Amino acid sequence: MIIKPDSVRDGHIGHILTRIEEESFRITGLRYLHLSQQQAEEFYAIHKERPFFDSLVRYMTSGPVVVGRLERENAVEHWRKVIGSTDPTKAPPGTIRALYGISIESNAVHGSDSVENGVIETRFFFEE
Ligand code: CMP
Repeated sequence: MIIKPDSVRDGHIGHILTRIEEESFRITGLRYLHLSQQQAEEFYAIHKERPFFDSLVRYMTSGPVVVGRLERENAVEHWRKVIGSTDPTKAPPGTIRALYGISIESNAVHGSDSVENGVIETRFFFEE
């Protein structure tokens, strides 16, 4: 998962980490870092052809983020349920994006969309 620049800036790191533990995830890796343009472009390479790609890279490099490796049963599926839809206005009440998201771009947190991508994204930030 990633706590994105808007959430870090607005002081939501603590609330989001608490929620993660309340949802029975174990946090087995945690880093506070500022993504470089190259890292953001590489992390989101799958969206390279999308019209929002340049803006997404600008946003993700606009300030520090917190990246975490989370473990629990059905982790990918459960985290997606906890964060809600990409667009915070469509996220169910109580989900992290409904609580803290500002827009479809500044949507508070990231979650891997599959177990396969979860492995790739975890390796992007953490040693084995
Ligand atoms: P995330 O789940 O991290 O994956 C891709 C990100 O691109 C997404 O969250 C948003 O931050 C951003 N994004 C997705 N769709 C749009 C969109 N239509 N317009 C702007 N940004 C978007």
